[in-house]
Amino acid sequence: MTVRAAICAGWLLAGVLFAQTPAHNFRDVRNCATCHPAQAKFHPETSMAHAMETVAECSILQKHPVMTVQLDRYSYRIERRGEQSIYTVTDGIETFTIPLGWAFGLGAAGQTYVFEKDGAFYESRVSYYRQIDALDITMGGQKLHPTNILEAAGRYMGPREAALCFGCHSTNGATKTDVTLASMTPGVQCERCHGDTEHHLEGLKRGDPTLFAMKKLTGMSTEDTSNFCGQCHRTWAQIAMNGPHGTANVRFQPYRLANSKCYDAEDKRIACTACHDPHREVDHNLADYDAKCQACHAGGKPAAKACKVATSNCASCHMVKVELPGGHHKFTDHDIRLPGTSYPD
Ligand code: HEC
Ligand code: HEC
Ligand code: HEC
Ligand code: HEC
Ligand code: HEC
Ligand code: HEC
Ligand code: HEC
Repeated sequence: MTVRAAICAGWLLAGVLFAQTPAHNFRDVRNCATCHPAQAKFHPETSMAHAMETVAECSILQKHPVMTVQLDRYSYRIERRGEQSIYTVTDGIETFTIPLGWAFGLGAAGQTYVFEKDGAFYESRVSYYRQIDALDITMGGQKLHPTNILEAAGRYMGPREAALCFGCHSTNGATKTDVTLASMTPGVQCERCHGDTEHHLEGLKRGDPTLFAMKKLTGMSTEDTSNFCGQCHRTWAQIAMNGPHGTANVRFQPYRLANSKCYDAEDKRIACTACHDPHREVDHNLADYDAKCQACHAGGKPAAKACKVATSNCASCHMVKVELPGGHHKFTDHDIRLPGTSYPD
């Protein structure tokens, strides 16, 4: 396969390509900021850019030199030693010790650790939760009943699952079936959404527009945007077909939003990017979203009904915060609806 053909095949193959070239640090966006300051200036601080960190640079592990928790008959301990965090699990008879490999998530809900043993990846049975500022069982782990010390330490992930896990949380960390650690840049950087930047820069240098391999994402329809974000935040179709159902699906915004009466696949005023700039951290000031709602509910074309109760802070009543079961965290229900109505599935 020629190099060009590989580029055209997109980011999945890019992982294979990059594995053969010297590692490139996709976190270095100084280059991009010269020409695209609005995107490159704030993106490095976002939680998407930090969706995954190496243990060495993980601020939560740095700030918590020792964390412990007891779950059934097992004691868990994560201890900082220099740039490493050592994970120890014991039932008093057997002890398992290993350096953690990667920290997934910035911890708004939780932070889960992945370690590698004999070439296989495991998800730590305990996670850090910001709300309790401590370790507790990893979401989904309540159903599992470890029968030996390794299972008590972590859940074995097959190669496909590991590739998915690294695929959503890193930039070029995975192909469909493989994790490519040597070349991986943790977190969701520009390249993960827009494609090959090295050739974009090379093309600009040479003044050859055919080498501009960047993906234009500005023109997408509302439905395409939902599906684009849904690659990782899950699509409507994925949840409709496979679940989960009940409040466990509150974290899947493309699904929740599409179920709201406000949603119109053709109307850009309800696209993810109408309310969120993927290059900036999510805005926690709910009043800032009023103008987004009012674009439809106070005129605009086509217009929707106005509220008889209030004229500001719309999201505080109509986008309910829902506790994710086992997650120690409330997500914002994107199924925009009347207050007091029970959770529609
Ligand atoms: C020397 C200036 C320059 C630098 C540096 C640069 N770009 Fe660009 N970029 C451009 C130009 C010019 C275009 C074409 C705009 C057009 O097609 O209208 C462009 C287009 C893009 C687009 C497509 C935007 C769209 O939807 O229209 C993306 C995405 C992009 N660049 C990302 C990056 C990233 C990521 C970096 C850093 C690795 C980067 N650029 C560095 C000048 C630059
Ligand atoms: C490559 C996978 C990927 C894509 C594509 C993606 N996201 Fe994300 N996003 C993530 C991950 C992973 C996190 C969790 C980061 C964390 O908190 O550690 C996240 C977090 C976020 C957050 C912050 C959540 C919080 O708790 O503060 C927002 C907002 C967000 N994404 C919006 C979007 C939007 C809008 C799009 C589409 C334009 C999008 N994302 C596309 C992977 C992705
Ligand atoms: C299909 C894409 C996808 C896969 C696969 C995936 N994640 Fe995520 N993950 C996300 C997105 C998007 C978010 C942000 C929204 C949320 O919290 O649900 C997230 C959030 C998280 C969070 C909470 C982050 C925070 O700051 O609150 C943790 C922890 C996490 N993921 C760990 C993992 C681990 C470990 C795996 C592999 C076993 C994994 N994820 C697989 C997309 C994915
Ligand atoms: C999570 C996915 C995601 C990441 C990561 C991301 N972008 Fe974007 N980018 C988008 C989307 C979606 C749009 C279209 C936004 C819209 O339609 O409002 C966009 C639009 C752009 C544009 C065109 C904006 C315009 O209208 O001129 C540029 C340039 C750009 N991004 C550069 C970057 C740079 C540089 C980085 C890294 C610092 C980056 N992007 C990271 C998803 C992403
Ligand atoms: C009409 C406005 C609006 C639209 C459209 C919208 N969101 Fe949100 N979103 C919000 C508000 C408001 C919050 C809560 C902000 C806060 O309190 O921190 C939020 C929060 C989030 C979060 C943080 C986690 C959470 O649930 O609190 C993510 C991730 C997110 N949105 C993703 C998306 C995605 C993906 C889409 C498109 C499918 C989307 N949003 C469409 C308004 C919107
Ligand atoms: C794209 C346009 C659009 C946007 C943006 C939008 N809505 Fe709506 N909304 C509608 C339409 C259309 C309906 C259904 C018919 C009507 O009310 O006129 C609706 C219905 C509603 C309802 C009644 C739901 C029910 O179950 O009866 C509420 C409440 C609501 N919207 C609140 C909001 C809030 C709050 C926001 C911002 C966070 C928002 N909407 C953003 C178009 C929109
Ligand atoms: C203090 C909570 C609160 C706030 C803030 C609020 N609403 Fe409402 N809204 C309600 C309640 C309660 C109802 C149901 C009223 C009823 O049944 O007559 C309602 C009804 C609605 C409806 C349905 C109207 C109809 O005639 O069917 C829409 C649309 C709506 N709100 C949009 C908005 C928008 C847009 C904003 C921000 C400008 C907003 N709301 C702010 C509580 C609120």
